Amino acid sequence: MRKGILSLTTAAAVMTLGLTACGGDGATTAAPSDAASSGSASAPAAVAGKVGVILPDSKSSARWETADRKYLEEAFKAAGVAYDIQNAQGDKTQFQTIADQMITNGATVLMIVNLDSGTGKAVLDKAKAQGVATIDYDRLTLNGGASYYVSFDNTKVGTLQGEGLVKCLTDKKADKPIIAELNGSPTDNNATLFKNGYDGVLKPKYDAKEYVAGPDQSVPDWDNAQAGTIFEQMLTEQPKIAGVLAANDGLGNAAIAVLKKNSLNGKVPVTGQDATVQGLQNILAGDQCMTVYKAIKKEADAASELAIGLAKGEKPTAPGTVKDTESGADVPAVLLDPQPIFFDSVKDVVADGFVTKDELCTGEFAAKCTEAGIQ
Ligand code: BGC
Repeated sequence: MRKGILSLTTAAAVMTLGLTACGGDGATTAAPSDAASSGSASAPAAVAGKVGVILPDSKSSARWETADRKYLEEAFKAAGVAYDIQNAQGDKTQFQTIADQMITNGATVLMIVNLDSGTGKAVLDKAKAQGVATIDYDRLTLNGGASYYVSFDNTKVGTLQGEGLVKCLTDKKADKPIIAELNGSPTDNNATLFKNGYDGVLKPKYDAKEYVAGPDQSVPDWDNAQAGTIFEQMLTEQPKIAGVLAANDGLGNAAIAVLKKNSLNGKVPVTGQDATVQGLQNILAGDQCMTVYKAIKKEADAASELAIGLAKGEKPTAPGTVKDTESGADVPAVLLDPQPIFFDSVKDVVADGFVTKDELCTGEFAAKCTEAGIQ
């Protein structure tokens, strides 16, 4: 088990939204202005402050550009707060340059999804030195000292993945299956938490000799292409892999592509995370066993509620705390509840408005959608 994990101070820290803001009820809203949405410093916003958001990339998961950006934008527009959302495209130098520019251009609140804790901390330190309020969004920056952290219960995400794989292997009546683990980026604290979660389910199975621990590797920067190469090697070395714990839908899809080449897709269950259109289609096709749905709208709403409060000069309170195990600090936190999705519950993701039937039920998937009860 790796070091630097984030642990909850209390189980009660995991809860759905219940933010309260000191010094204001958050009811002040203004008609959204186009200028505010452009992020221009000259935007005539109703709120004095300005929020800068740095997303990590657009390749490690579809979520950042298709979900997080959209929901954050909607929240800032509705509140009439000036904002600037940029994507570092996986480039750590660019990440720091964007942060510097945002601070120069008058950001009073900075929300980041770090690319690693080191560069994340450098950015948070600079922001704090300039009196800019800080929020870690989705990924905790270890030893970063952000004022707030908004995410899901990431250990639970991993537990659901482990339990999901067990369910699919049980359904297939797998006998002593050899499991491959395709972990997320070693620089992402979330990947550590996911692994803690699924290993908590799988390790007892290995110990009891019910399952066999097979290849176990991290994928640098969650790079989907590298994941394909890594999984190809895994399967070459161990052709009897019978289950794949992939840490997100992108990694899962990379494994599925390799399984397809070997006519093993559908026979070897693969997990995922993020409920991306691709992941859900892989589930409908029977090539992916499950994914984990994280209601990103709730995450974006919780983070933007904090950011908007801070932009108004308030000092919002968060419902819980998480421990930064590197610094020992208790970081005020909002942690939301993830949900496992299998073939029969793909419809729940559609019903929640996270993906539409139109984008999901294209071509060959139309019949599968009907079978899965997607309206
Ligand atoms: C996020 C996942 C995402 C992964 C790759 C993690 O930190 O929690 O939702 O799939 O990064 O971007």
